[in-house]
Formats: sequence, structure tokens, C-alpha cells
Amino acid sequence: MFATAKPIQTQLPQDLFAAINDLKKELNAVILAHYYQEPDIQDIADYIGDSLGLSQQAADTDAEVIVFAGVHFMAETAKILNPNKLVLLPDLEAGCSLADSCPPQEFQAFKDAHPDHIVISYINCTAEIKAMSDIICTSSNAVKLVNQVPADQGIIFAPDRNLGRYVAEQTGRDLVLWQGSCIVHETFSEQKMVELQVTNPDAEIIAHPECEPNVLRHANFIGSTTALLKYCQQSDRNQFIVATEPGIIHQMKKAAPDKEFIPAPAMNNCACNECPYMRLNTLEKLYLAMKNKTPEITMAEDIRVAALKPIRRMLEMS
Ligand code: 13P
Ligand code: SF4
Repeated sequence: MFATAKPIQTQLPQDLFAAINDLKKELNAVILAHYYQEPDIQDIADYIGDSLGLSQQAADTDAEVIVFAGVHFMAETAKILNPNKLVLLPDLEAGCSLADSCPPQEFQAFKDAHPDHIVISYINCTAEIKAMSDIICTSSNAVKLVNQVPADQGIIFAPDRNLGRYVAEQTGRDLVLWQGSCIVHETFSEQKMVELQVTNPDAEIIAHPECEPNVLRHANFIGSTTALLKYCQQSDRNQFIVATEPGIIHQMKKAAPDKEFIPAPAMNNCACNECPYMRLNTLEKLYLAMKNKTPEITMAEDIRVAALKPIRRMLEMS
């Protein structure tokens, strides 16, 4: 006789918040959420953070189940660090244009063309690319990590060309850049942003280093999502034009309720500054993922083991 698969539940409870909290206890689960998630998900999460903070939490947690409210490469990192834990992602389609812009076969050819270079990869890449890298970095530690590499050692930086260019400028290093980019951070209009600053002369522009150089050159402060959040809490200014995914504004408003946060405008009059992948996760899908214990992140063990090494190096060097 074949065992019949457990039916997948699709019914939603009336009080999703209460039901998710119950499931958290029942499963001994932790919910980790990125700042780009919708406000309800941020509000129910046990930890909200940037990519570095989230991977540190994933490395340290003693929960049995990790519910990752973020995109695929983030949940994959949690699985690489926790092979024996169940890692759930509310929507498996929550990918990343930046990770997709670096296919492993082409990247291998790029590496082969620079045989004496080491590879530092931004965490926004697939497990296969991590497995081909020497060190992983995030937007909050990239400069610090590159500065720790001996000056005569050539470095390939992948996959984000904008972060790579920014790190090269900050460190004075000649990095060989893979030409990947993020659809969200490429969408901001320099002209509209400058016009916005003219009508709001007291506002400071704060930007994520994944933005294009023509946007970054106007920024009063550049940093990871956590750094941007801390900056506007500590700044004596009361108005900020925020050039990153606007999901973070939820935490900014909570941290500094008397300050004003204006999302940097996109080139077309669209909502393309919202990450379409991050926004695939919803509170409903998060509940169903916990209830059904699926969709689960899995990967080949050889890739996981190879990808773990450069992640561990990052955690040690951070
Ligand atoms: P951080 O979480 O490092 O700020 O990066 C933002 C991002 O684009 C994540 O996909
Ligand atoms: Fe990827 Fe950009 Fe979305 Fe971040 S914001 S997950 S880099 S597509």
C-alpha cells in the first residue's frame, strides 16, 4: 500500500495573528523577516533585520523551525547554516532579480578568466554561486571585508555592479565586477529625486548602495537597510527621502514617529520601487506555510557544504 500524502490545508482562521502565534509555539518556530516585507509580517516576526542580521540570527537560533519571511536566497542561507532544521519560505517564487542575474555556468567562465582572483559574493546570490565563492558579504559589511583582504590580492566582486562600484570607491581597490543589478534599486529617478529635494529643502537623501551611481551621488548617507534605519533615528533632521525598497519605512516610522519619510520616486509613475519578489509573501501564505510545513527549502548536500564555507568566513570576519 502507498502512504497517502497529508492534505494541504487552505482554510484561513479568523484571527491570523493569534493562529500564527499558536503555531509558533506548537512548532517551536522562529519567524525571521526582512525590512522589505509587508507591515503585518514585520509586526508578527520575532526578528526583523537586514541580510547580515538575519543570517546571524539564523546561525544562532535554537528554534526547530525557521520561517523565513524574505526571498529565496535568504531562506537558502538559513538552510545552509541549519541543514537539520525545517526552513519554510511562504512563497517559493519569492526570488531576486540580482541573484538571477548571475547564472553559475557563465560565472564559472568569468572566474576562469581571472584565475588568480578570489571571489567575494554579495549574499544576494544563489547557493550555487555561494559555493563558487571564497567570502560572502552583505551591504553592511562589504567594505569591512574587502579591507581585510591583502592589497595585492585580486578580487572578483559579484553579482551587484552598483554595490561593487561603491565598495571599490570606498576601499580604493580595483575590483573585477560581475555586471548584475537589482530591478528595484535601478528604478529611482535622479531628476525626480532632485526635484523632490528642491521642494523639501530640509530633507536628507538616504540610499542603499544597490542604487545607481547617479542616485548615490546625491545621497547624504549610504548604507544597508539597518544602517539607514539607525541613521534616521540618530540624525537631527526630520525629513528623509528614502532611496531603497519602501517596506523599511514601516520600521522607520515606528522608530521615529515624529519624522517624515518620503519614498524616492521611480522613473515611471509606477510602484516599481516595491520589490515584487519580497511582496509575494503575505501573512496568509505565512500562516499556511506553518500549518502545512511547506514550502520547504531543500538543496543538494555538496552545494550546501561548499556554500557554508564562505558564509562562515563572513560571520567570522564581520
Ligand atoms: P540589506 O538587507 O543588506 O540591506 O540588502 C537589501 C536587499 O536588497 C536585500 O535583498
Ligand atoms: Fe533582490 Fe532587489 Fe528584491 Fe533585494 S530588492 S530581493 S536585491 S530584487
